[in-house]
Amino acid sequence: MESRDLDPDEVVDIYDELLKTYEKEWEQRGHRSLHFGYYDEEHTEPGEASMNTMRVLSEALDIDESDRILNIGCGAGEDSVWNARAYGAEVVGVNISETQLDIARKNAREHDVSELTTFAKDDFHDLDTVDDDSVDVVWGLEAISHSPDVSRVLEQAKRVLRADGRIGVTDMFTRALDLSSTDRDRIRTVNESLGVRVGNVDDFREALEAAGFTNIRVRDLTEGVEESAEQRYRFSRMAHPGYRLLGLVGRTSETQIDALEANADIYRLVRDGTLGYFLITADLSE
Ligand SMILES: C[S@@+](CC[C@H](N)C(=O)[O-])C[C@H]1O[C@@H](n2cnc3c(N)ncnc32)[C@H](O)[C@@H]1O
Repeated sequence: MESRDLDPDEVVDIYDELLKTYEKEWEQRGHRSLHFGYYDEEHTEPGEASMNTMRVLSEALDIDESDRILNIGCGAGEDSVWNARAYGAEVVGVNISETQLDIARKNAREHDVSELTTFAKDDFHDLDTVDDDSVDVVWGLEAISHSPDVSRVLEQAKRVLRADGRIGVTDMFTRALDLSSTDRDRIRTVNESLGVRVGNVDDFREALEAAGFTNIRVRDLTEGVEESAEQRYRFSRMAHPGYRLLGLVGRTSETQIDALEANADIYRLVRDGTLGYFLITADLSE
């Protein structure tokens, strides 16, 4: 669709620039997640829904206390803390952002799970800090969309997983390969503004197969996530004029304004059926 290159420093800069916005959201939600909320009958508030996204991925992966989990793109530590608190699992979180890693360590301390969690600076395309055959689960909650080269991430995942290891990701993917020019423009906005490279769901499944993963299961969670995408859209439409004005006097940055635009486009793409939110799991065993 377009260049798959992506400079990790660019991604770090975007997250650093948006930190203040995230901090406001974290205050409202009561936790530091950086992902869409999954709504169902029992999880109807934004804070509950984002906890629910983690629960759904953990359950799909059958996490338990015997698991050592590698969390690729661990954000501010919320999903690592979740697996440590809810299941007693040991979690190693990697991220390219020192700022987020510091928050993740603080998050773990505040929730008394520092002994079960470690956080390291590492690019999930390299995993230099992670030994071969050292984890039971590779977990990626809305991280894989930041990869311009998912095959490389999967090769690394395979290297660090023990025999019988599992992988699970959730993320936005396009449903079709053939997109209208409007959709392509919207995806370009999303990619450039949020430092992602949104991939296609069938391509991802094929990349898993090519890397040697088996028992691949793709679940479409879009319906439960649409409310969360719509909330970001509504906020974006409400805040956009004000952000533009503040931008004129240097009180908001282009990055913040672009992120609002990207969130509006994500919702439009979801609403029109171009983007879906998928939970994908696979095993290393035969
Ligand atoms: C949408 S956030 C999700 C964070 C966390 N999983 C959560 O759900 O709260 C994506 C994360 O991936 C990280 N990331 C992006 N590219 C990465 C890379 N190449 N290697 C490691 N982490 C990366 C970002 O810094 C960010 O923390």
